[in-house]
Amino acid sequence: MERPRHGGNWAWGAAIAGCSPQEILDFSASLNPLGPPESVLQALTQALSAADPVVISRYPDPDYRDLRICLANHWAVDPEWIFVGNGAAELLTWAARDAQGREVWLPQPAFGDYARALRAAGATIKPLPFFPGQGSAGFTLLQEPLPVAGKGNRVLWLNNPHNPTGWLIPQQDILPLLPQFDRVVVDEAFMDFLPGEPTLSLNSSPSAMPRSQTLIPHLAAHPNTIVIRSLTKFFTLPGLRIGFAVGHPDHWQRWRQWRDPWSVNGLAGVAVAAALADEDFRRRTLAWLPVAREHLFRGLQALPGWDPWPGQANFVLVRCPGSATQIQRALLQRHRILVRDCLSFPELGDRYLRIGLRTLPEQEQLLSACREILENS
Ligand SMILES: Cc1ncc(COP(=O)(O)O)c(C=O)c1O
Repeated sequence: MERPRHGGNWAWGAAIAGCSPQEILDFSASLNPLGPPESVLQALTQALSAADPVVISRYPDPDYRDLRICLANHWAVDPEWIFVGNGAAELLTWAARDAQGREVWLPQPAFGDYARALRAAGATIKPLPFFPGQGSAGFTLLQEPLPVAGKGNRVLWLNNPHNPTGWLIPQQDILPLLPQFDRVVVDEAFMDFLPGEPTLSLNSSPSAMPRSQTLIPHLAAHPNTIVIRSLTKFFTLPGLRIGFAVGHPDHWQRWRQWRDPWSVNGLAGVAVAAALADEDFRRRTLAWLPVAREHLFRGLQALPGWDPWPGQANFVLVRCPGSATQIQRALLQRHRILVRDCLSFPELGDRYLRIGLRTLPEQEQLLSACREILENS
């Protein structure tokens, strides 16, 4: 079986562990372990058990008006500025198609699907170095402003917080970059995990940071910029496939010509309404997250030779003392635990693991499995 390029591939993990996929404890996909919210499960059950379950017995509204209004109300934008998609992955495909024949400036390492989408669209990737050594004074995306000439051909593509480092690029670093590019795409798939969080950004002091880091409120002033969001990670809905993009409606006129008419299914619409209304789930997640991150970070730091990176997302990138894929294999075969190797990020090679946060007892299980492997290798 081919090594997966994404997290969450239980079948691959189970084949190596020699067990059923259900027996795998998955730290590889970076999904919220508290979800999916009970409210979402109830809403889906109710929708399916209705006498006339219209969510599956009729085509979805191809304009997705109610869904867009629901998302727009939550993020305080005009519904015309919302474009829904079959997960953020579909929206990345259209954002890439928008960059056809252009130069796309992309911080490296980068989520592997960007290269897939950009290459398929015929865009040229211009790597931006984004990976100083641990303990470095900080990172900078662009040292100097770019020349105005050539701007029409340039696209900037950011991921914030960044996968796989978990770093948050502070808004104050991003805003001056926006006018230097013809188009800007910001993938905020993990941003839901941040609200109210102080930042650990490497070059800004926590107290200097505003509370919310999403670029959504800045889009009106920057119509060249598109923000892409996902409901997969925070609400643990990878199987439903639901994401959305926010930006000037002119972008959507192009994207509508490319997409198929019903890419988002009716059940996803039901789930979004329930998920966004569930304040209790949000509160519980944001209470769990910093505790779990601190617990995993300190636990990994205590392992001899392991070097975790401080990040803001719901996963921790850690440098291992030896081959990361060997550790990954041992965790699977001896403990049925799946962690994500970073081979799909070529700059990182076989030295890094990306570990999603889970409950504290599950994290303890992982840490003691790592200790066992270290002692017996
Ligand atoms: C940075 C990033 N963006 C987008 C996605 C895709 O999200 P979705 O499930 O909404 O398609 C992922 C999935 O791992 C991701 O890591």
